[in-house]
Formats: sequence, C-alpha cells, structure tokens
Amino acid sequence: PVIRREDYKAPLWQVPQIALEFDLDPAATLVKARLTVTRAGSHDRPLRLDGDGLTPRAVSVDGKALSAGDWRMDDGVLIIALPGDDHVVETEVEIVPASNTQLMGLYASGGLLCTQCEPEGFRRITFFPDRPDVLSRYDVTMRADKAAYPVLLANGDPIEQGDLADGRHRARWVDPFPKPSYLFAMVAGNLACNADSFTTMSGREVKLGIWVAENDLPRTGHAMKALKDSMAWDERTYGREYDLDVFNIVAVADFNFGAMENKGLNIFNSRYVLADPETATDPDYDAIESVVAHEYFHNWSGDRVTCRDWFQLSLKEGFTVYRDQSFSADMGSPAVKRIEDVRVLRAAQFQEDAGPLAHPIRPESYMEISNFYTATVYNKGAEVIRMMALLLGPERFRKGTDLYFARHDGQAVTCEDFVKAMEDGGDIDLSQFRLWYSQAGTPRVTVRPSYDPESGALTLAMRQTIPATPGQDVKQPMAIPVKFALFDPATGEKHDGEEVLLLTEAQMETRREGFAQAPVLSINRGFAAPVIIEAEQSAQDLAFLAAHDDDPFSRYEAMQQLMIHALLGSIAGGPLDSAAVIDSIRGTIADAALDRSFVAEAVRLPSEAYLGDQMQVVDPDAIHAARDALQREIGVALQKEWRAIHAECARNGFSLSADARAARKLRGVALNYIVASDAEDGPALAFDQFDRADNMTERQAALAILASGASGERAQALAAFYDRYAGNALVVDKWFQTQALSLHPDVVEMVEALGQHPDFTLSNPNRARALYAAFAANQWGFNSKDGKGYRMVADAIIALDKLNPQTAARLVPPLGRWRRFDDERGAMMKAELERIAATPNLSKDVLEQATKSLA
Ligand code: ARG
Ligand code: ZN
Repeated sequence: PVIRREDYKAPLWQVPQIALEFDLDPAATLVKARLTVTRAGSHDRPLRLDGDGLTPRAVSVDGKALSAGDWRMDDGVLIIALPGDDHVVETEVEIVPASNTQLMGLYASGGLLCTQCEPEGFRRITFFPDRPDVLSRYDVTMRADKAAYPVLLANGDPIEQGDLADGRHRARWVDPFPKPSYLFAMVAGNLACNADSFTTMSGREVKLGIWVAENDLPRTGHAMKALKDSMAWDERTYGREYDLDVFNIVAVADFNFGAMENKGLNIFNSRYVLADPETATDPDYDAIESVVAHEYFHNWSGDRVTCRDWFQLSLKEGFTVYRDQSFSADMGSPAVKRIEDVRVLRAAQFQEDAGPLAHPIRPESYMEISNFYTATVYNKGAEVIRMMALLLGPERFRKGTDLYFARHDGQAVTCEDFVKAMEDGGDIDLSQFRLWYSQAGTPRVTVRPSYDPESGALTLAMRQTIPATPGQDVKQPMAIPVKFALFDPATGEKHDGEEVLLLTEAQMETRREGFAQAPVLSINRGFAAPVIIEAEQSAQDLAFLAAHDDDPFSRYEAMQQLMIHALLGSIAGGPLDSAAVIDSIRGTIADAALDRSFVAEAVRLPSEAYLGDQMQVVDPDAIHAARDALQREIGVALQKEWRAIHAECARNGFSLSADARAARKLRGVALNYIVASDAEDGPALAFDQFDRADNMTERQAALAILASGASGERAQALAAFYDRYAGNALVVDKWFQTQALSLHPDVVEMVEALGQHPDFTLSNPNRARALYAAFAANQWGFNSKDGKGYRMVADAIIALDKLNPQTAARLVPPLGRWRRFDDERGAMMKAELERIAATPNLSKDVLEQATKSLA
C-alpha cells in the first residue's frame, strides 16, 4: 500500500458545495452530508467517497434514496455510479466521538467535542473525496445539548443560531472560501472567551476569540498578543490581510500535534495557548508566540493557497515555518532565534537525514502520510525557503511571494509552482536549486583555505558531497550558498565585508587577494545553508572568532566547535584540554557589549546527543563522562564569575522584558555551572532558587539541575513541585519530562516507575510524550548498556499503538538509530524494532516506521 508522487491523478469529481448537519453527542453523533458533485472532464468513472470506519445509514442521489445495488463499499470507500455530470449526493452516518482515541476526526477531549482533519481525518467524520485538491464551500449546522455544549464553533462566519426543543440548540456557520476537507473544523463545549479585535490594513474589523475553560482565561493574554502581532506582521511583511469577520482559537488538552490551521478556527494543543509566569517558562512563552503565528500565517500559506497532494506538504509547512521564524526573529533577538532554530534543525533534522527514515523535503512515496510531518518537511523545508530568500534578496523575494499568492489564490498547487513564482518574480534561474526538493541527506561542504605569503592571496578550495540515503545512492551536486567573511587576525577587521558564493560544482576554488597575513575564515555565517561544514580550523582561529566574529551565529558556532574539539579529544583518550574553552567563556561573559541571552547560548556546552552526532560510533557513556568533567572544570575555573552572575541576574518582581528574560536564562546557566563544580553549597543554592522563584523559568531550571544530581534536595524539590502543581496538567507534564530528561544514573528505573504513576496515562499525547519521547531523547539514559531503555520505549510504542497510532509512530525513530551505536546496543535496538514489527494488528503508522528503520 505505497502511494507514489509520480502516480498523481487529478480528481475525477469535484465537490463545489457541501452542507453538513451534526446532531452532536459524545456517544452517538449523527452526521448528514449533502454534496453537490460535478464530473471533472469526460470520463465514465463512478464517484468515490473516502470513508474510514464509517457505515452508511442512508445514501441518496438527487433526492432519491438509493437501494443496496446502486452503491458499494470497497475498503471503506463508498462508490456510487452516477449517470450525469451534476448531482446532489446525500449520506448519513453515525460516529462515536467518545471512543475516538486516535484523536483524528471528531473526538472528545475533556468536556469538549473537537476535530482534527489534517491530513486524512475528515473521512472519519463523513464520506468525502478526502484529498487536498478538492475544494468546497462549507455550510455547517451543529446541534447539541445547550447545557453541556453552550458554545458551538466552526469555520467561517456565524450565520444563525437558536434554541431547539429538549434543551438543545443550534448554530450555523458558513465559510465563503472554498477549502479542502483537511481544513474543516468544529468545536462544541463549555468554553469561555478572551474576546478582542483587530482592524486590518484596509480597515475591516475582525473579531478575535481565544476559547478555553473558564479558569484558564487569565492565561490567554500572551496568545492574544501574539495573534495581533502576527496579523500586523503579515500585513507589513508580506502584504497579507485577514479575510473573514471572525478568527477563533480553541485550546484542547488532548491533541496529537502542536496546533492546526483550520480556516478561521484554529485548534491548539493547550500547551501552545496557556501561559502565566507561575506555570510557563520563557521558552513556553516563545513557543506560544511562534505557534500562534505559524497557524495564523497558514491562512495565506496553506488555506488560501493550499497543497495539490500530500507530497507537496513542505509547500505550506516549509514556507510557513520560515515565516514564523522570521516573525519571532523580528519580535525578539534575531541572533538568538537563529541559534535556537539551528539547534533544533541539527538535533532533529540532521539525525533524520542521516538515518533510515531520510527523505527529501518533497517525499517520493509513503505508506502513511502522517509519518511525514517531519523535521525534514518542516524545518529543512524552511531552510530551503530561507536560501531562496537569501539568493533573491528581500525585494525580489517579496516580488516572488506576491506573485505566488496572486497567481495561485484559491488553488491547490505544488512546490514546483512556488519555485516558478520565485523564478518569475525574482528574475532568477533556480534549475539546479530545485535539487533541494528532490535529494535527501545533509550536504557536507569541505572548505580548505590556503594562504600564499608571497602574493598575499588566499585560496578557498571547496568540495561538496551528499551522502547516500535510502533509495538515493548517487547524488548530483547542489546549489549551496556559501556565506563567508575573512578577518585580519591582527586588527580584527573584516576584509571586503561578507560574501555569498554559490557553490554549484562538486569542487570549486576561489581566490581573494590583499592579505598581509593569513586571514581567519568565518564560514556559513548565519547558518545560511543547512549543511555540515568541514573546515579544519585551528584552536587559535576558533578562539579568535569566538571573541571577534561580528556574525553572532558564527561566533556561537566557534565556541561550540572549541567545546566539541576539547570533548572529542578527551573521548578519544587524550587529556581534557579545557583551557581554550574556559578562556573563551571567560571572555564572553566579560564582554559587556553582548546581549545576555546570546551569552547564555554561547557558554552552554553542546548536548550529549549533538556530541554523539560528531562521532563515528556514538559512545553515550564516554560522552556523558567527558561532558560532565568539562562542565565541572568550567564550573571550578570560573566559580567567582558564575556566582557573580547568579547574584546579579536575580530580579525583584517578574517581567517579560527582554532584559529580564535574558537574565533568567543566564542565571540558569550560571547555577548549572555552580552545581556542576561540586561546590558544597551548590544543591542548597539550587533549592533556594527553586523555592523562592516567582516564575516557572527559574523554578524549573533549578528543578532540572537538582534532578540530574544525587543531593538530598533532589527528592525534596520534586515532591514540592508535584504538590504545588498537582492538577495542572501542563505543569505535571513538566514534572514527568524533567525527570525523564534528567542525567541521573537511575533514570531508567525512575522512568519505569513514573510509567506506573497514577497521573501517567498514554491516552493524553502530551503526557505520553512528556515521559517517553523525552526519555528517548535522553541519550545517556535511553541507551543504557542493559537495553532496558530500549525495551521500555518499545513496550510503550506497542501499547500506545492500540490507542493512538500517530503518536506511537513518533516514538519509533530513536530506535531506528541502531546503526549509530556499538554492535551490542545496535543488536538490542534492532531486536526491539523486530518485536514491534511482528506485533499483530499493528497500525500502518508504526509498521512503516519500524520496517523502514530495520531496512
Ligand atoms: N498543519 C499543522 C501545522 O503544522 C499540523 C498538522 C499535523 N497533523 C498531522 N496529523 N500530522 O500547523
Ligand atoms: Zn504548519
């Protein structure tokens, strides 16, 4: 059952209009659908309506009930032979939201009824050609018990509402914009509204609503601010105006992903809506801002212009991630935002690109499309858009996007259409650049500078190689923008500014003149291309860049490289050469011109997982030991400095200002180093911060530090945290997650015990991820030598698959990394994958991930 991109066929029937009527009830919801269908082109094929778990109770065509012989079912699909070109088809089904544990289609969450239709959930609600190139106008009537479901929301504009007999009421919503079925949404429940408004650039007033449980209302202010900022930003930056009279956001507790851009009715995982200082960290605030923006931006990049088929997913996701990243950069520190985005890309996407599940941003085939909502499609997809924006420059890029939106408004299009609009609007040839859409794998760019003192010339020799990935043994050279600068080590001056050179060949050389001594190379500045740079840079050059590079990303990167060199040297059996690292950190924390938020990023050690990615064979124990030792040395050597920072960064009274947030972040880093130094009062200091904090950022940072140690304060803090927040699901998630991520020698047993905790459940995706996805990301714990970590995660996958295959499938990739480890670990991981793959009645979702991981 493999679907291939090359097999795309245009739909045989269109559905310009659909009217839906819902009699809502968690135990039995009646769904009546009235589809106006028209034959597309001339053919004599029947109408095929997708269904998943649906049994038709009645089918009629043009008002006449069909008898059993006039329609048939084939693997869930309802097939009706129709004589003419235009008909009205009506169906009736009954569904059970309360037993929908997959959280796809119409389901119950808390006391709410809500929907998730992307990518193929609509077919679990009603019979329909459930594919994104069938665009329809929706007219939706909802009926429900008024006491239990006082609020009834759907896409578009509210048209009528009124009371019915038996304590029920009704609402009718009409969405004037034709849309694919994956953007359908509906919510019924007892919700309170944070109501506001936004006046668009043409002067239209839009009613905004953020709908949550009554007692969560005080936690919706940040999301509302993010929404209004996003609306203004999209007008300013892309000329995109909102197009309906209302825009609603609903928060639900049980949600498979982050959020969903349904037209005019975005549905969110509550973790990306609710925040106050007591319960949300600064990164939580940032995530809310960026997810609210992401979903709002989809209104144009996704809803008004949508995808022709699911192979084009990056068309909307890559572009929209790029848009939300740019928005967050504009709202805060562009330098720090770039560092964070690259960290995510390297942690998630580079690993994906290097493993058995590697795929191009526009995949060629899939068994289950839900498995392709990946870091590759989203984050690498965003990097590809970012490179085009760089190559075109801001003005031409804007011309390209204007052309894209104008040309394709109301259409379902392809990645190729996007690139074509960039070419036409930006007046550029992107033929070779298109390989970024078809070739998987992270390119490696080797850069060798050689200086000739005679002529004062520097030659840069560059080479690119793209590793083989599943199904792609041989790769063509790509078009890679190489952004670089050359510094005079004596004066610290940049030579001729910054350049972008397009590397188009497997090998290329370039020469620059006029250097009295060998210049220092600053390469892939701003992380302009999503590649791995191999440049043998000396510790001296790295130290120079760490102190002087005016590109903040490259400055950060130089420090990371220094740390990586020291750590890999010691892992390879050499001495731990910490001097250069400590000097650079000392210089960075003493540099008063630097933003503290940047400093906090720059002085932090790379994660254990990222260090693993730098090794041929990952050795989790050696990595942990080396990183621990370096952390201790940095803590000891700069003890006075960390103490001073920790004291200086304390604040009276909470604020969300950039300065206050930066202080909290750097304070956490300082506390970590103090505790890592084994100072006797370290745990007490951490407990004090934990206990006195007036905000979750500082409290959680201290908790995480204590959780990784063996102090008496550890248990005390964990218990106090739990008691303080019991009943607040999002904070209890943090309690599970912090322990699952902790670098404690007994973390495996602790996670095992947490799986039996009364608050643990696999039915809530946030809770399941807080424990098992977090643990699988804990390199040291998950890869414990006895294989217990592997077994535990495999058990969780098998159990969760019965409830929620999508969420279960997301836990498989960590086991798929078996080739990266020693033979013993590799064999144990493989055995778990085999056990999963052999489980009877496995979902397509998990089956695809497990079998591909074994291949
Ligand atoms: N389109 C949503 C977003 O990125 C994500 C939907 C994911 N759903 C899924 N079943 N994979 O904003
Ligand atoms: Zn998206």
